[in-house]
Amino acid sequence: MSPRKPRAAAPKRVAFLAVNGARYHVEATPDTPLLWVLRDTLGLKGAKYGCGVGACGICTVLADGKPVRACVAPVAQVAGRAITTIEGLAADPMHPLLQAWIDEQVPQCGYCQPGQIMAAAALLAQRPSPTRADIDAAMSGVLCGCGTYQRIRRAPTAYPLAAAPRLPAPRVLVPATPESPSQADVALGPWLRIGRTGAITILVDRSEMGQGITTGLAMLVAEELDVALDRVRIEFAPAARAYFNPLIGEQLTGGSTGVRAAWVPLRESAAKARARLVATVVRPPGLSGKPERIDAIRALAVPGVRKVLEISSGVAVVAEHAASALAGRAALKLSWSAGRKRALSSAAIHKQLHQAVRRRGAPVRRRGDVERALGRAWLTLEAVYETPYLAHATLEPMNCIADVRANACDVWAPTQAQTAAQMTAAEIAGLPRKAVAVHTTFLGGGFGRRLETDFVADAVELSQRLATPVQVIWTRADDIQHDFYRPANIALLRGGLDEHRRPIAWSCRVAGPEAALDGIDMHYAIPNVREETVLADPGVPTGAWRSVGASQNAFAIESFVDELAHEAGEDPLASRRRLLGHERRAAATLDLAAAKAGWGTPLSNGKGRGVALYRSFGSWVAEVAEVAVSAKGAIRIERVVAAIDCGIAVNPDAVRSQLEGAIAFGLSAALKERITIARGGVRERTFEDYPLLTMAEMPEVEVNIVASDAPPGGVGEPGVPPIAPAVANAVFAASGKRIRTLPFRSAR
Ligand code: FES
Ligand code: FES
Repeated sequence: MSPRKPRAAAPKRVAFLAVNGARYHVEATPDTPLLWVLRDTLGLKGAKYGCGVGACGICTVLADGKPVRACVAPVAQVAGRAITTIEGLAADPMHPLLQAWIDEQVPQCGYCQPGQIMAAAALLAQRPSPTRADIDAAMSGVLCGCGTYQRIRRAPTAYPLAAAPRLPAPRVLVPATPESPSQADVALGPWLRIGRTGAITILVDRSEMGQGITTGLAMLVAEELDVALDRVRIEFAPAARAYFNPLIGEQLTGGSTGVRAAWVPLRESAAKARARLVATVVRPPGLSGKPERIDAIRALAVPGVRKVLEISSGVAVVAEHAASALAGRAALKLSWSAGRKRALSSAAIHKQLHQAVRRRGAPVRRRGDVERALGRAWLTLEAVYETPYLAHATLEPMNCIADVRANACDVWAPTQAQTAAQMTAAEIAGLPRKAVAVHTTFLGGGFGRRLETDFVADAVELSQRLATPVQVIWTRADDIQHDFYRPANIALLRGGLDEHRRPIAWSCRVAGPEAALDGIDMHYAIPNVREETVLADPGVPTGAWRSVGASQNAFAIESFVDELAHEAGEDPLASRRRLLGHERRAAATLDLAAAKAGWGTPLSNGKGRGVALYRSFGSWVAEVAEVAVSAKGAIRIERVVAAIDCGIAVNPDAVRSQLEGAIAFGLSAALKERITIARGGVRERTFEDYPLLTMAEMPEVEVNIVASDAPPGGVGEPGVPPIAPAVANAVFAASGKRIRTLPFRSAR
């Protein structure tokens, strides 16, 4: 769909930018966000795109020393101000804050870290010795999906006053030398490489003897790519057939053939590099639906927009740069058919799951005779626990580059599933699998989302249709509204105590989509047990989410164990400990967490401790949460003490870091996150209505590792399942309010 292209509505202007001490003049429309000028025009890729609406803070740079969200700061607003990016802090001499980040081993995926460091640099420039409250106040607006807050909080205080960092003073400098060849990540034919930071390298296949071939070829490429000449660096090509001079038949410099021979292949390579820059796909507003009407006239009027076309997943806007693609997308007028899922709603799903959980299910485990034991019990108890659909919300939205050619295809993707990505690309491109090369880039968070290949499919389909390399970027709204969600589920728990107040019966029935039905692992020695599942899939796309079914089922199981202990009048730790006699590793893990948390020591009014223990991915994790509940029911998580038996801890600091992150991730889900469905689509669009845990909400976390010589278990996921029940149990201990539905924002 490419209607006649009208005259461009918003002409580009030249703006002067002072970035990291160097001055640039750039051509951009005045409202172009600074982020895209930094990334696409200046090749400074440190500032990251997370939401595009100022809600996550990971694009933070400094303007005259003050933090600015580059995704919403128009270039006209920052022209003439001294801009500092992470590249400025990393330049020689390196800002001491970066060393603190290294010493504290802060990053996990790393995607948010440039924004975190810039926010910290601004704070330290004002307050060289910040308190925890200063740090929380200044940095809570910068989100970290991996939950590295605790280490971020330590880093700005890791250096003494004398090392208080300075920001680079504005001055005129030659722009920094582009990256080394080893950092380059995209080769476009034998002559051209585009580096991760946007640096461009030409491999010159001729000898330079003063005839100016290197400058001439660099100018040729710079012009074709529409970039400043100083962004192009030169390297001499090795002896190889690919560099044979076509006018002579061997690799040779002579006959005045330098530019004549290179003219076509270099321009073609450069044109390819330029053409690959961006495309973005508008998806239907609901979980189903097709475009009915596409009015692309205004979108095509946006400078840089090349094409608008319908593809399998929606309507693609193809442009030279990300800023143009996003502006074109905003100008697009679309109407959509509602699709077959138009009646889906959270209320209907809730009703469906509640009905399902009252049906008899497929047995997972059976021991003894539960019905008989319940019939004879001194006390019986029944409770229903509910968990919602959740997005993965990786800070880096989905994206992919694909280059489909007649006989081969290259894919550059932040993927967790290389085989699946290869199969997807091969199928769409109509090529054998071996003709598809998948290049894995760094992942800005995964959590299971990047096991899917929908973002790969977008890029491959577009590259094939347009016969050019294409980069697809998703917006935050695309990412939240078109995820493969952690499924909602409902668990019905029934239990019985005998006359000695010991548990004698346990029944657990879980209803939900398939991905919600695994991870049921009640590990206590109760004589009569029945566990069963009822498959009920409302039709919302679901997938693996960090710790999969264990993240939900641990909440039900470990909360209900607590409820039974309370009914028995027994301490919840003592009750668990008694029922774990045969599980020595579990008991040791529980004991360690309880001892380190000071279980049993008095707490002030309004505070409580809760404990939970769960096994997943071959590791046992126990967590003790300490919470404060205000008179109005507000919940504050003050401390979490964890213990893990993951067998041999190959890298103990990485184990601690993963547990800290998993606890933050699980807390975020337990306290804040929920996907709601209305009129067949997901309501939430950004971090404003799908909030994540912030720095100020992050409790102190202490991780203890059980000494073990057992084979290594998992460490990335097992920290997630126990945190929701540990906190819910602590809230009960503090307030008497039992929480059975996630997320919970207060104890009322
Ligand atoms: S605040 Fe700029 S990308 Fe989120
Ligand atoms: S380290 Fe912060 S989002 Fe991954």
